[in-house]
Amino acid sequence: MFTREEIIEILTDESDDNLSLLCSDAHRIRVENRGESIFLRALIEFSNRCQKNCLYCGLRSSNIDTSRYILSEDQIIDSAVKSYNSGYGSIVLQSGERRDREFISFVTKVIKEIKRFSDNKLGITLSCGEQNEETYREWFEAGAHRYLLRFETSKEENYYRLHPKDRFHSYSDRINAIKTLKKIGYMTGSGFMYNLPNERVEDIADNLLFLKELNVDMVGMGPYIPHHETPLYEERNLVRLKEKSDIMKLALKSIAILRHLMPHINIASTTALQVIDNQGREKALASGANVLMPNLTPDTLRENYSIYDNKPGVKEDSELISLPFPIAYNECGDTI
Ligand code: 5AD
Ligand code: SF4
Repeated sequence: MFTREEIIEILTDESDDNLSLLCSDAHRIRVENRGESIFLRALIEFSNRCQKNCLYCGLRSSNIDTSRYILSEDQIIDSAVKSYNSGYGSIVLQSGERRDREFISFVTKVIKEIKRFSDNKLGITLSCGEQNEETYREWFEAGAHRYLLRFETSKEENYYRLHPKDRFHSYSDRINAIKTLKKIGYMTGSGFMYNLPNERVEDIADNLLFLKELNVDMVGMGPYIPHHETPLYEERNLVRLKEKSDIMKLALKSIAILRHLMPHINIASTTALQVIDNQGREKALASGANVLMPNLTPDTLRENYSIYDNKPGVKEDSELISLPFPIAYNECGDTI
């Protein structure tokens, strides 16, 4: 177990040899606790409509340049069937945030249909933002059993540098939502972005320790990537690391440190890593990460889910074959 001081020391250490050691240790810990195999989640970005206005995200409601969509129930089910037939044990239904009854009922219906056609076998993870306890329960009872909700940054004052301070963006509501998900019984995932404007190394250490404090079951964290149609774009030069290779090192350090802190959880090798290094995904899987989320959103809509610039639109199916790790096909990959 690392202390805060040790984490800060690792994060500031520039030795490549030390980094390799840290990553190979983390890999060993991952294999011991989670096995050799990588778990797959098919990511279906079923709607990019969002009521929020996060200052960093291309899907923010004020961005009128994005053309908005929601997949029909049939389109979602088609993607889910395709995922199921391709050997994915689990899917992630991701969308922007909406809290209206029509949306909530739509998601409930889709969850039930997926459970029905897969004979309860396909695991469902939701990533549909902050909702009230009643909604989270409705979706849980319909058959979703995991939920992803990043806290984005663990300190309140930093949170309000990334979000407008209004009723849609409350730091305490966000943290309480994560706690509610856990209380209901979801396997709960959270995470944060790093290399944000004005970020200090101490902030990253605190974010990592906060994941431990929340005792989450899954983590997805990734580098902040500026999007040109967002307010935070103005601050893009205030990020600490300018070189992609340095950001990649930070990514690997964060994953490896977290694997040391939380040996039993699922850690995703996130899509954003692929933007900064075309081997980013593989490197992360060799440094403590054990989950991959290939994008199975229908091709024609994928480019509209533009949370940051240059998001890869890769055809992931074909690429899986080249992974240097065994893949746990048809397995859900629960940690408990
Ligand atoms: N760069 C990197 N990640 C981003 N996200 C949103 N905007 C960006 C960006 N510009 C991440 C947030 C959110 C997740 C769905 O995408 O962490 O939780
Ligand atoms: Fe909406 Fe999520 Fe983007 Fe915020 S980060 S604007 S909640 S899609």
